[in-house]
Amino acid sequence: LKKQYRNILYLILILGTAYASCKKDDDKSSGTTPYEISTPSHFPDLYIDPDNPLTHEGVELGRMLYYDTLLDGVGNRKCADCHFQEDAFTSYGSNALAHMNLGWSRYYLWNGKIEGSLEDIMLFEVQEFFQTDLSKFNSNSNYRNLFKTAFDVDDISYKDLANALAQFERTKFSGDSKYDRYIKGAESLSTSELNGMNIFFTEKGDCFHCHGTALFTDGLFHNNGLDLNPELGRLLISGRRSDKGAFKSPTLRNIELTAPYMHDGRYETLEEVVDFYSEGLKYSNTIDPLMKGVSNGGVNLTDQEKTDLVAFLHCLTDTSFTSKPSLSNPFK
Ligand code: HEC
Ligand code: HEC
Repeated sequence: LKKQYRNILYLILILGTAYASCKKDDDKSSGTTPYEISTPSHFPDLYIDPDNPLTHEGVELGRMLYYDTLLDGVGNRKCADCHFQEDAFTSYGSNALAHMNLGWSRYYLWNGKIEGSLEDIMLFEVQEFFQTDLSKFNSNSNYRNLFKTAFDVDDISYKDLANALAQFERTKFSGDSKYDRYIKGAESLSTSELNGMNIFFTEKGDCFHCHGTALFTDGLFHNNGLDLNPELGRLLISGRRSDKGAFKSPTLRNIELTAPYMHDGRYETLEEVVDFYSEGLKYSNTIDPLMKGVSNGGVNLTDQEKTDLVAFLHCLTDTSFTSKPSLSNPFK
């Protein structure tokens, strides 16, 4: 009788342990590890969609998708074919918008066609631009497993693809240029660079109005005076006549790497861009009131001032971003 009693006790113990370990697996739910994102301290707070919290598994999956041609439902492209890391995620010779600090944007694409969060623009990219064939993912056991782990889904949807890509995009922040180290007191600028900074941030060059803040963009739309008869630009989306010729102010971070410049890639060099702002402005009735000196063609800088301004723009290059291993092709 004593032995029987002991066996029952053992049974209870075994069942109890089994229950506890099942319970533990349940608590881990899909088995993800939270991704602690530490953005530059001088940046504004980063918006994170509460329905799409960052996890290591989600970020890594987004990175794979970004570098995988399987995503393309119509051709054989991958995102990284036009968005190269070494060029701050644009590509030489194209007007592709660079990818950095997009987690702080509210409008995407040159005319701001997509408004919302990274999840919204990524949904557009997979559903409309790439027309991803979901069956390619749902018949791929590797991706099925990875999506099961990262998002606890059995059937991969556009939303899941977009969420993974959005998580990866949020980790693409750039805020460690020479200029950033200068404002933190860790590095000094040359006389020419300092003078260029002064031109940039004062009425002299007036660049800061649209390319200001730690992000070097106001994230809004302006007609900066490129043409006498500008393209529709933002008007196409907003329907407001005052938006004719207005395009999204691009960030000037890593600008040295993202030539050619402007929405149509009309300028090859920063020197040409500075010449344009100095004396090449064209008047049209929707030109932004922030564009100064239009009747004189622009802010009229001397040759030395132009050189200094370009020298300052070069201080916005962040090579730790363009060489960061966690943003590179995971299949290499
Ligand atoms: C064939 C070249 C090409 C490929 C491939 C490509 N893009 Fe782009 N991308 C562009 C161009 C060009 C623009 C600017 C277009 C515009 O604004 O109308 C752009 C703009 C963007 C923007 C907007 C950035 C901003 O500042 O508003 C995002 C985000 C983006 N692409 C993500 C992606 C993703 C994700 C993929 C893969 C699914 C991808 N792109 C594939 C060329 C490409
Ligand atoms: C009124 C707002 C405004 C002001 C002021 C302004 N910009 Fe811009 N900038 C823009 C807009 C908008 C674009 C994109 C225009 C387009 O492509 O049609 C742009 C584009 C650029 C580009 C090309 C970026 C790229 O990725 O293609 C550079 C470089 C640039 N600006 C530098 C400057 C400098 C330097 C100054 C000061 C001399 C300045 N900007 C003043 C709004 C402004």
